[in-house]
Amino acid sequence: MTNPALSNDDLAMLATDFCGLNFQTPLSLLSGCVGFGEEYTRVKGYSNRDVGAVCLKGTTLEPRLGNKPHRVYETPMGMLNAIGLQNPGARHVVDEILPTLDFNETRFIANLSGSTIEEYAEVARIFDDSPIDAMEINISCPNVKEGGVAFGNDPDMSARVVAACRKVTKKPIITKLSPNQTDIAENARRCIEAGTDGFAVINTLMGMAIDIEDRSPIIGNNQGGLSGPAIKPIALLKVHQVYQVCRGHGIPIIGQGGVTTAEDAIEFLIAGATSVGVGTALFYDPLVCKKINAGIVEYLKRHDMSTVSQLSGSLQLNT
Ligand SMILES: Cc1cc2nc3c(=O)[nH]c(=O)nc-3n(C[C@H](O)[C@H](O)[C@H](O)COP(=O)(O)O)c2cc1C
Repeated sequence: MTNPALSNDDLAMLATDFCGLNFQTPLSLLSGCVGFGEEYTRVKGYSNRDVGAVCLKGTTLEPRLGNKPHRVYETPMGMLNAIGLQNPGARHVVDEILPTLDFNETRFIANLSGSTIEEYAEVARIFDDSPIDAMEINISCPNVKEGGVAFGNDPDMSARVVAACRKVTKKPIITKLSPNQTDIAENARRCIEAGTDGFAVINTLMGMAIDIEDRSPIIGNNQGGLSGPAIKPIALLKVHQVYQVCRGHGIPIIGQGGVTTAEDAIEFLIAGATSVGVGTALFYDPLVCKKINAGIVEYLKRHDMSTVSQLSGSLQLNT
């Protein structure tokens, strides 16, 4: 048995549809926190069957070596990272890595990045001709000087990236939105018009840490993306705001930012997420998804709900 804590009936409660893909649980492992999926399965006791999807590390057209160290730094209630999209390039991922993944175990989602709209479209074209289940477009990566910030912070640019990828693939497109922008709901609206099938909300918030003896930033890139529990209240509000735009269109959201417990995941579901992403928490508890799944099932039973979809978007605002 892959998940000893849960019966088949329990697992049936957790199954959910995301962009037409069958997610066996509402949890997604987040991009950048599990490499390209294959090495994580070496963690003793972990199974890809515990999660609905695994989002692969951000991938560009050409290989990238990433930023100089330090690339990560622990902060109170979270971490800063500026990896700089280290990856072996889209061709290598499709030819050498995807064949090593077991697509019977879970859904795999590619995470696309680029410095130009053409590069995004080219990466999407390469993944279109592969078994990948869906593509997440990272228009929000804050660490690449050549354009990551500009695309994600400007609704026009965001929509143009989505439209360019839409032209080259019929696979589900999930647009990953940045919290580092003025009006995330307007951006979501424009991305829906441009053809996105889903959203990932949110990517990291920009931050800095300073070595007071050197009087220089600790992160080699000077600034980095803040993730972990510190960003959870911000992420919840952004999911709520994007859900208001999505609900009429049936467009699902992978809610994310600081999830470490079942209670956190349930909050995101209530706010409007269909799937809940787990990232930073995996660095200190690689088996956390088992506990989150069990906690969600316990909550559903206690509230007389038979499926996790009943929970999604069930927020009742104070009047
Ligand atoms: C070390 C690290 C690397 C990341 N790399 C990527 C990436 O390549 N592409 C991307 O879209 N997001 C990346 N992210 C952002 C996460 O996927 C996630 O959106 C964010 O960390 C918020 O979730 P969390 O608080 O659960 O970690 C990275 C995050 C971390 C901590």
